[in-house]
Amino acid sequence: MNKGRILVTGGTGYIGSHTTVELINAGYSVVIIDNLSNSNREVLDGIKNITGVMPDFVEADCTDMVALTALFDKYSDIKGIINFAASKAVGESMYKPILYYRNNLNTLLNLLDLMPKYGVKGFVFSSSCTVYGEPDVNPVTEKSPIKKATSPYGNTKQISEDIITDVVNSGAPIKSVILRYFNPVGAHPSAEIGELPNGVPQNLIPYLTQTAIGIRKELSVFGDDYDTPDGSCIRDFINVVDLAKAHVMAIERMLEDKSDKKIEIFNLGTGVGLSVLELISAFERATGVKVPHKIVGRRAGDIVKVWADPTLANTVLGWKAETSIEDTMRSAWNWQVKLRERGVM
Ligand code: NAD
Ligand code: WQD
Repeated sequence: MNKGRILVTGGTGYIGSHTTVELINAGYSVVIIDNLSNSNREVLDGIKNITGVMPDFVEADCTDMVALTALFDKYSDIKGIINFAASKAVGESMYKPILYYRNNLNTLLNLLDLMPKYGVKGFVFSSSCTVYGEPDVNPVTEKSPIKKATSPYGNTKQISEDIITDVVNSGAPIKSVILRYFNPVGAHPSAEIGELPNGVPQNLIPYLTQTAIGIRKELSVFGDDYDTPDGSCIRDFINVVDLAKAHVMAIERMLEDKSDKKIEIFNLGTGVGLSVLELISAFERATGVKVPHKIVGRRAGDIVKVWADPTLANTVLGWKAETSIEDTMRSAWNWQVKLRERGVM
């Protein structure tokens, strides 16, 4: 049974591609819009290889209202939107703030503006644990204080949450689910899709897998003198396929009117904090591959420790992280090996 059409913005990106797979598996038709600024068309083949379905694809920029309007005119049956399209590099946002505010906020405003005109009911938004800053208490719940953003990127997530709340509360015929991701990692178990960072990775797992395969000499662990059991920072590493499945549940919750609330916010994490050094050990244990690493100084701006209380997502959304960290590490490694086999890197 076809459950209707979902627009996935940024659908050839890391989380968007995994979510597209889960939407197709759940019986939805998907149209992707992506400007390919941080992804490529081959991702569509990966999605087809997994699902047997090639999603419709529109190469366009979500900040371009003319292109977006043309898309909605063509696909007049869109029921819901999952908005992944955004610029996401925290460091880059510090020296290109206008690009970040323009891209992330204009994309959001355009989509929210068009939704009522085209009768689109449900809107899922990719937010981030970055909104909690350095929490006073872990794990963080959705009621934990929102701290002043430390980067333009983080600020776009806070402003976006406020914009969505204001639009929904203005009486627009829209429902929204805001998902605050912790640290998404891993790849699809088929190794058909995964994370494809541009240049030198800034995030831990792609740097780790590129080191394990020999592209990088060694992984720098940024600090072992923090106030944590082993001195390295602690994060909540959430498997990307588990994460993707939450988006299908969020869409269903809105389209099937499972909730009276017009706007809901959920943390998406495992509920378990793992240190950087523990993660390296988990990778080595799961794959049998050693990761050359050394301890270096702290990275400016790093949060010391943050992990989720996912109770609300578990009980209300009916979602739970299921994949073990070992399986997640194996999937990240298999993806890195596949990239090598394909000659990508
Ligand atoms: P990604 O860069 O892999 O995917 C984003 C996609 O959006 C890319 O394919 C890019 O080409 C596209 N895009 C960017 N701007 C666009 C525009 N104006 N028009 C059309 N397409 C555009 O990133 P991701 O890791 O998949 O992240 C997806 C979303 O989740 C982002 O909003 C990000 O901020 C958020 N998020 C990511 C993480 C993370 O660690 N990966 C954590 C929390 C939140
Ligand atoms: C994780 C840990 C590093 C690289 C970022 C964004 C956040 C969210 C998720 C989008 C930290 C350590 C890293 C390396 C290391 N994204 N590390 N050596 O900083 O938790 O969060 O991505 O919303 O907003 O800030 O992720 O993967 O960069 O770092 O030791 O080479 O790994 O110090 O403790 P982070 P990360």
